[in-house]
Amino acid sequence: MFRSQLLRQVAGATRQAPRAAFRTRQPAATSIRSFTAAPVRLDKHDNDYDAGSTSGVPGESGDHEGQYARTDKSVRVEYPEEDDLPPSQPVQGRGGFHFKRTLASFSLEGRVGVVTGGARGLGLVMAQALVTSGADVAIVDMNRDEAQRSAQGLIDTYKDENPGSDKIPKVTAHFCDVSSPTSVNQSLAEILKLHGKVDNLVTSAGFTENYDAISYPHDRMQKLWGVNVDGTYLYAVAVAKHLIEREAPGSIVMIGSMSGSIVNVPQPQAPYNAAKAAVRHLAASLAVEWAHAGVRVNCISPGYMLTALTKKILDDNPDLQKQWTSLIPVGKMGRPEDLMGAVTFLSSDASLYVTGADLRVDGAYTCT
Ligand SMILES: NC(=O)c1ccc[n+]([C@@H]2O[C@H](COP(=O)([O-])OP(=O)(O)OC[C@H]3O[C@@H](n4cnc5c(N)ncnc54)[C@H](O)[C@@H]3O)[C@@H](O)[C@H]2O)c1
Repeated sequence: MFRSQLLRQVAGATRQAPRAAFRTRQPAATSIRSFTAAPVRLDKHDNDYDAGSTSGVPGESGDHEGQYARTDKSVRVEYPEEDDLPPSQPVQGRGGFHFKRTLASFSLEGRVGVVTGGARGLGLVMAQALVTSGADVAIVDMNRDEAQRSAQGLIDTYKDENPGSDKIPKVTAHFCDVSSPTSVNQSLAEILKLHGKVDNLVTSAGFTENYDAISYPHDRMQKLWGVNVDGTYLYAVAVAKHLIEREAPGSIVMIGSMSGSIVNVPQPQAPYNAAKAAVRHLAASLAVEWAHAGVRVNCISPGYMLTALTKKILDDNPDLQKQWTSLIPVGKMGRPEDLMGAVTFLSSDASLYVTGADLRVDGAYTCT
């Protein structure tokens, strides 16, 4: 099964880099690098070019030159095993009927949405946003059990927040490895059987990992692109084909990352960054290709979001948290709930003339 393969590969990778949330290959005392330990400039050449630069001779004004703006190949962020993570829960207190005036065009009443990677993290919160806004939702994930638990959790939360509601949304869970065309088609066929149609897609299945480019295991890189890029493409094409055959308009929201526009520091992650740049441009390219059919395609590029996964990594590595937040103009990481409005806007008729756009939800990280 793909899932066990993936876990094996992660285990293999962790054998190469000893298990700890954030490690260097050097002794433990140096495992969390402080700002002042960023790599020094190595480009000391005897030529006229440096004499004309702002710093004069490289290193002249100290080893800090470039230190906030470089990746550090000794930094490895190790991602916890699934069993080490608490399951994601639906957020509380964001749903329920209300009587505040708002634009009707934001409603997803009568729509069916698919969320890949919806079993947990950002995908689960965005699935909840679609349910809260009126849609029925199919959660698609490689983690079958967690998808099932999360689907039930969304229904239970809805019932709690809407006591007496006569219409309970339909939320279903479906196994899929989004990097496999066969698995994508099988899961979509299953969804169509249960829901009858699909109007919206949110592609949140994805993962990141950190190796410096020279040491990146090739099979891991292919897996990363397989899920983040092929997976996004395959599900988008399958849903667009369904919409075009049905002659129905629809909206696809691809979850990219600010890493598709900037280079994160200090952790090196070149293939992930390139994958997310691909997702962003895929959204633009497919928006143009399917504009004639009323199928809109947009991208959301989140910044650093505090999910169960990132929280665990940062709890283990307070220095890394300081480094990340020091680079965010609003001074804090985003909450997964901060994507609820963005995904509802792009999925609904409130954004009918918005297609091919990249909506950055990153606390202005990419502005600086
Ligand atoms: N968390 C952040 O700070 C952040 C920031 C920017 C972008 N993103 C992106 O947002 C998306 C969701 O991230 P998250 O933090 O919620 O991660 P997460 O690990 O909490 O959730 C990802 C989900 O995708 C599923 N998944 C992984 N591979 C799959 C596959 N091959 N087929 C089907 N499902 C698969 C996992 O089982 C999991 O349920 C990812 O694309 C990620 O790159 C996250």
